[in-house]
Amino acid sequence: MNSLFVREISISNNIPSGNYINNLPVVNWLKSNSLEFNKPVTFIIGENGIGKSTLIEGLAVALGFNPEGGSKNFNFSTENSHSDLYEYLSVRRGLKQPRDGFFLRAESFYNVASNIDQMDRMPASAPPVIDSYGGVSLHAQSHGESFIALTENRFGGNGLYILDEPEAALSPMRIMRLMCNIDRLVKQGSQLIISTHSPILMTFPDADIYEITHEGIELVPYSQTEHFQITKQFLNNPERMHKYLFEE
Ligand SMILES: Nc1ncnc2c1ncn2[C@@H]1O[C@H](COP(=O)(O)OP(=O)(O)OP(=O)(O)O)[C@@H](O)[C@H]1O
Ligand SMILES: [Mg+2]
Repeated sequence: MNSLFVREISISNNIPSGNYINNLPVVNWLKSNSLEFNKPVTFIIGENGIGKSTLIEGLAVALGFNPEGGSKNFNFSTENSHSDLYEYLSVRRGLKQPRDGFFLRAESFYNVASNIDQMDRMPASAPPVIDSYGGVSLHAQSHGESFIALTENRFGGNGLYILDEPEAALSPMRIMRLMCNIDRLVKQGSQLIISTHSPILMTFPDADIYEITHEGIELVPYSQTEHFQITKQFLNNPERMHKYLFEE
């Protein structure tokens, strides 16, 4: 069995009143419960604005990643938009240390790409940073291509990968290619924690899916998620859904 790098998170310190994160149901749930990671792949799902990014960004920052994304060697900052949830999180780690790691934030991946180009413009004796990303500037590729290049070239296995909506730029075919990459990473001893809205991605075999709701967090099988059921209903009969949506 794959040994996991992150086992459990909870909230251990008091969050001052007035901090907006106190209004998030996921934060309140974590004050009296802990979230366990038991599988190499864990998905975090839930409605827009429910707190997925806040949660996984808080976890990533608590583990030492740059809030805007990247590996632990990235420390650029373009905008201080992250919450301070990391200050109150308690993370129980596994016995083994990851050899690799990356925090991918769809919203600020552009800034990661710019930072790599910037580092490579500086005189250095080391090989260019972009070499470990496939050798082609991430800005010289489409949004989806650069995401796939990242997972195929930079993610080396035996690592902890925290991904916020990695499907954002991907076509359905590329989402399946991403699933093949995730499968390879798991076979190479990795742990992935992924927030997603993709009903395709969340079918990844033997993954745990935690759904954040206004009541807290619960484990759900993919077939019971609203994302999966609504997409399936829609695709089974788009015209019927149009009638429901557009007719008075
Ligand atoms: N600086 C802030 N002040 C007040 N509220 C904030 C601030 N930043 C974020 N929020 C609120 O926190 C909530 C959770 O945001 P978050 O980005 O975690 O949602 P999400 O589940 O990732 O949504 P999505 O699916 O759209 O990515 C949102 O309702 C947002 O408006
Ligand atoms: Mg989000």
